[in-house]
Amino acid sequence: KAGHVLIVGSLNMDLVGRAPRLPKPGETLSGTSFATIAGGKGGNQAVAAARLGAHVAMIGATGADSYGAALRAGLADEGINCSGITTRANTPTGVAMIIVDDASQNAILIVPGANGEVTPAAIKQHEALVATADVVVCQLEVPHDTVLAALQTARRLGKVTILNPAPVSEPLLASWLPEVDYLIPNEIEAATLSGIAVDSPQDACIAAQRLRALGARNVLITLGARGLVALTGEDMAHYPGTPVKAIDTTAAGDTFTGGFAAALARGASVHDAILLGQRAAAISVTRAGAQPSIPYLHEVEQTA
Ligand code: RIB
Ligand code: NA
Repeated sequence: KAGHVLIVGSLNMDLVGRAPRLPKPGETLSGTSFATIAGGKGGNQAVAAARLGAHVAMIGATGADSYGAALRAGLADEGINCSGITTRANTPTGVAMIIVDDASQNAILIVPGANGEVTPAAIKQHEALVATADVVVCQLEVPHDTVLAALQTARRLGKVTILNPAPVSEPLLASWLPEVDYLIPNEIEAATLSGIAVDSPQDACIAAQRLRALGARNVLITLGARGLVALTGEDMAHYPGTPVKAIDTTAAGDTFTGGFAAALARGASVHDAILLGQRAAAISVTRAGAQPSIPYLHEVEQTA
């Protein structure tokens, strides 16, 4: 039986150029292709959770422009409840300018636009969506006070909380991590939050323990091609990555987080939820773009 996932987060239109390599400061480089693709960590995680089997609602904001309309239509096509998405009259929809190189590395500049106007009041206004959810998922592309309000509201209502702390440039305040049931950083975010450099699965185990000591109940550190380190309950485990030919890693972490949330929401074990997220993310990196690259449950089941 499908569970309910609420995503509180960002909606961006991704303006994606491909180039042989990333340009240096001051350099003009000729690219090889351009595409306008639905993205934003919140939107991507919502699509992932929906395609991977959950009933999904989202709280967020767009501008009153064509990008906003396209993003919302894309979510609605996946059956996502968009009643918590506000349209801002005087602010543009968020955009992410993304350059992907031949080694499938990327560089991303985000201009938040309407995402910057998702306020704690929106969480209060849409508290019924929190109440309906089994699992509430946040990232850090909307204002931090809003994320904290969402996590606190969710905890108060007895929901499972997931924080994908992305992007992050400094440690979170001490009051944050105790609100988090599952903290899902990548290696860079784990290092920023823990103060421990993460260059190997061994380092990730140490960082995960540190983040646990800071209050996060469970910590899943994603390590790209090297898989994931999970500190859940008393168990520390390394889940190696499935070897795949990566085309574009944009939204791989979002696919993992959305898939993990969808599985948890329907009552799967943490172990099975991690495997589903990993398999889905492995498929997503073999395809271009953010939301178009996210697989459906039946595609993941074919690879299991
Ligand atoms: O995590 C990938 C996403 O980050 C992209 O879709 C882009 O919009 C940025 O927010
Ligand atoms: Na992708």
